[in-house]
Amino acid sequence: MAFIEWTRDLDTGIGWVDEQHRKIVDCINDLHAVDRASGTRESVSDVMGRLIAYTRYHCSEEEKMLERAGYRLLETHQGIHRGFIDKLHTIHDQYRRGADTSASLLALLENWLFSHIRVHDRGYVATVKSAGAHLR
Ligand SMILES: [Fe+2]
Ligand SMILES: [Fe+2]
Repeated sequence: MAFIEWTRDLDTGIGWVDEQHRKIVDCINDLHAVDRASGTRESVSDVMGRLIAYTRYHCSEEEKMLERAGYRLLETHQGIHRGFIDKLHTIHDQYRRGADTSASLLALLENWLFSHIRVHDRGYVATVKSAGAHLR
């Protein structure tokens, strides 16, 4: 069974956003699988790197959309993304220096996914849709 299962309450109703969120979930599950399979530190670190890169990409795409929509909470949302990405980098660096941080990275990701998508991302949906900024 996957570490994280997608549940309908994670859907924002914006197709490409949901696709990217699902891809992040897939990356988290990949990390969990390689970690459980006692993959080499290098392979775990590679998966962490890919996950972080994709998360950064998603956050920046989302921020561009929020900017197009003139979203009132854009700066707050950006700050939350930045803080989260900084934490991911810190944990990845610690792992590369030999610490066993894969479990804390998974816990952080799981927690972020559930709280950030459900609360902060879903919070922008109405504004973004009424501005038509979700269309690509
Ligand atoms: Fe977000
Ligand atoms: Fe998001």
